[in-house]
Amino acid sequence: MMTTRELQDEILRLKKEKDVCILAHAYQNHEILEIADYTGDSYGLSKQAAAAPQQNILMCGVRFMAETVKILSPEKHVFLSNREAGCPMAEQLEVEGLQRLKEQYPDHTVVAYINTTAKLKTLCDVCVTSSSAVKIVKNIPNDKILFIPDCNLGAWVEKQIPEKKFQFIQGGCPTHLFLTREDMAYAKEQHPDALVLVHPECRPEVTDLADYAGSTTGIMSFAEKSDAKEFIIGTENSIVEHLQFQCPDKRFYPLSKNCICRNMKLTTLMGVYNCLLGRDGEEIHMDETLRRDAMRPIENMLKLGG
Ligand code: 13P
Ligand code: SF4
Repeated sequence: MMTTRELQDEILRLKKEKDVCILAHAYQNHEILEIADYTGDSYGLSKQAAAAPQQNILMCGVRFMAETVKILSPEKHVFLSNREAGCPMAEQLEVEGLQRLKEQYPDHTVVAYINTTAKLKTLCDVCVTSSSAVKIVKNIPNDKILFIPDCNLGAWVEKQIPEKKFQFIQGGCPTHLFLTREDMAYAKEQHPDALVLVHPECRPEVTDLADYAGSTTGIMSFAEKSDAKEFIIGTENSIVEHLQFQCPDKRFYPLSKNCICRNMKLTTLMGVYNCLLGRDGEEIHMDETLRRDAMRPIENMLKLGG
């Protein structure tokens, strides 16, 4: 039986032999981050996908992330390491629903969180991620914004850009919606000296009580640079583990033990190994018209996000 370390070594050998770049979202387990060429938040992964020199990309994340890579790099073979790994938020709004919203708000710029399907992106003006949303929305020359699908991230952006008028739908990330005001009260009582760092996908009642809100990468760099020694982390619990590796002298506590994305956790080391051997995972194929239409809002994101 192979040990974890032997399996990781075999993956490192195979990815070199097969010219594969492994991208891993920060919500992956630590042993997955260790075999990746690049790890980060959704925005970082999109930029890295376009820059990677390898001919093959293996995404350890969820489907919309692999789709984004394919949209940006059509000449590459792009694989999702577990074909079942979707994002429930990305599937909350159908094309017909968005068409109706656009008829209702015809003079609004449609801003889509990147956690959307490629099909839905074809109807949007610009994509954003949690780390780029405020900057991008500020740079949009229209002050009427239809923000889909996450109304919690949208509300957080709206607070920072009060001069613009936003319309939202009822959508959100089921993982972050687990976090409540009661969790916050309990965690603060348990760790009164800790700073609270949360993701803006949390409900406003949670984000409003935090010391910092930002993307996964934002949370990690805030904790690293801070002089504080203890932190309560309000996002997917893998970040708690990564931070413990990154800053062994500091202490990190999950805001709730329930903040686990089941879809992100479908990726395993053995799954990555099998995908590299062509025994598991899925290659992403995309119709060229769909790809070109879905690329427009992503290109706008990269342009406006800098
Ligand atoms: P970021 O990586 O952009 O912070 O997004 C978090 C997330 O939920 C990804 O699915
Ligand atoms: Fe989707 Fe939320 Fe999981 Fe991110 S954490 S992939 S938004 S369900």
